[in-house]
Amino acid sequence: MSEIRKAVQKLYNTYPFPPDPLLDEPPPGYNWRWHYQSAYNFCKGRKPKKERIRILDAGCGTGSSTEYLVLHNPMADIVAVDISENALATAQKRLKKSGVLNDFQGNIEFKQFNLEDARDLEGSFDLINSVGVLHHLPNPVVGIQALGDKLADDGLFHIFVYGELGRWEILLMQRAIALLQGDKVGDYEDGVKVGRALFAGLPESSRILQREKERWVLENQRDECFADMYVHPNEFDYNIDSLFEFINTSGLDFVGFSNADFWQIDRLIKSDDLLSRVSQLSPQECYRLIELLDPSNVTHYEFFLAKPPFTRETWQDDNLLAKAKPELNPCMMGWESKSLLDYNYQPITLNDSEFEVMKLASQNPNQDLSVKDILSEVNFSLDEVRSLINRQLIIMG
Ligand SMILES: C[S@@+](CC[C@H](N)C(=O)[O-])C[C@H]1O[C@@H](n2cnc3c(N)ncnc32)[C@H](O)[C@@H]1O
Repeated sequence: MSEIRKAVQKLYNTYPFPPDPLLDEPPPGYNWRWHYQSAYNFCKGRKPKKERIRILDAGCGTGSSTEYLVLHNPMADIVAVDISENALATAQKRLKKSGVLNDFQGNIEFKQFNLEDARDLEGSFDLINSVGVLHHLPNPVVGIQALGDKLADDGLFHIFVYGELGRWEILLMQRAIALLQGDKVGDYEDGVKVGRALFAGLPESSRILQREKERWVLENQRDECFADMYVHPNEFDYNIDSLFEFINTSGLDFVGFSNADFWQIDRLIKSDDLLSRVSQLSPQECYRLIELLDPSNVTHYEFFLAKPPFTRETWQDDNLLAKAKPELNPCMMGWESKSLLDYNYQPITLNDSEFEVMKLASQNPNQDLSVKDILSEVNFSLDEVRSLINRQLIIMG
């Protein structure tokens, strides 16, 4: 095993991550990125055809994501792999204790496994989730390519990797701790001790301390989080340009960021003249502009990839839209009410006719109501249906 991989494994055996408490009940709410139907709709603009799907949680850690994958995809076959046996043991305890497996009709398998060897896993996967993992591999390209090869033709690959602009203070602190540790580098408990003592003495004027206080201090009360952040033996951080170089090595298409609101330029630029200049930029240049203007909030990138040629249904064809059968997005809170939380936990208020349309859509799929059927009962236009689709409130089958 490579020295780097061994060091990473030792870190997560010492401090399994994430240190989320083990609960006696299912985790709260939802996360649409781990709900296949909702994620598929976000990426491809329609309901997936397949119901029985295979999911890979690549680098599942202590199983917080795996638990949501089980909860949201009750018919799926799920394989959860990690290199740390201690993280895997906690993941298994987590799922047992919370009871999420009681109503689960699919299969779940936990496996101690190096994801760089993903090609050795059986079959392909409709959803691959790899959050906070690829940037810790000795060579992240090896990992993204191996996982990309396991993606089913219509599959989705969700990735989260670190951003350098919002983490430069962390990198400096990592180096400072390593300098002071000397030949004790690799002793993670010592690293946490050194790091905590360093922070305790830094003056208020220190940018490293200021950043810790404004952004990270709450989560870093846990030694697992502190170690994951400041005592990590191997971390690659990206910027938009190096991120797209990395993505291009996978041979997959970039679908979009899963925190899409962050990547809207109009939250940073208001002038019409400047916005018309922005319209001349490529999408990648536009993302770069956003991170240059809002660097400290770029602590990570989270995004979906898909096999080429990637296409998204836009429902511009009136006939196609009239025939489609809408259902409610399963990731919502507060339905059946006009005021609710959408898939992203944003509060929204529906007008009367939107509410009526959504009520009829909620009767699908059993009733098989098409958009045309619904519009014969409610005074609503196809463009208003498109607005519900674009806001991810309904999913078209
Ligand atoms: C920061 S944790 C993320 C855990 C989980 N994905 C999450 O977001 O909560 C990184 C995880 O990746 C695992 N990991 C690192 N290198 C790996 C490899 N080569 N193969 C499999 N898992 C690996 C670690 O053991 C650790 O549990």
